[in-house]
Amino acid sequence: MNAGFKALSRCSIAAAAMLAAAGCTPSGVSYSKDVQPILAKNCSECHSPGKEGFIKSGLDTTSYDALMRGGKFGPLVRPGDALSSTLNMLVEGRAHASLRMPHGREKLPDKDIETLKTWVNEGAKNN
Ligand code: HEC
Repeated sequence: MNAGFKALSRCSIAAAAMLAAAGCTPSGVSYSKDVQPILAKNCSECHSPGKEGFIKSGLDTTSYDALMRGGKFGPLVRPGDALSSTLNMLVEGRAHASLRMPHGREKLPDKDIETLKTWVNEGAKNN
């Protein structure tokens, strides 16, 4: 049996036991591979120190730690709960229409919205 298969089967056994604790992401969505590129492309030009979005909301999307720290009013990501995470509400357009992100632009592609949702629901890990 090759190493890849072993890793996979270990992951799925653990996943059956407990997803979050095992550190397995069944969807394969990862922060560094999937989430960070979406934020870098669509958010960080406003949400980085000195820029408009950062100045108004305090949110910096350029690193995992900054993202998890959130904005002026506290965390915007609730690990395991995309439904009540402000980040997801805004990109999905579930908040008021004037407060959709990216600010004043086209909505993100559905695929990216799904990726952010899956990542948060799977624990918003730094993986
Ligand atoms: C064109 C600039 C711009 C872009 C691009 C942008 N934002 Fe924003 N963002 C803002 C501004 C400005 C605010 C402050 C609220 C307002 O004025 O609407 C804000 C506020 C927020 C808030 C609310 C913070 C709070 O405390 O409630 C979140 C969450 C957020 N943005 C996430 C994102 C995400 C995620 C993206 C990328 C998908 C993004 N933004 C892209 C400008 C931007």
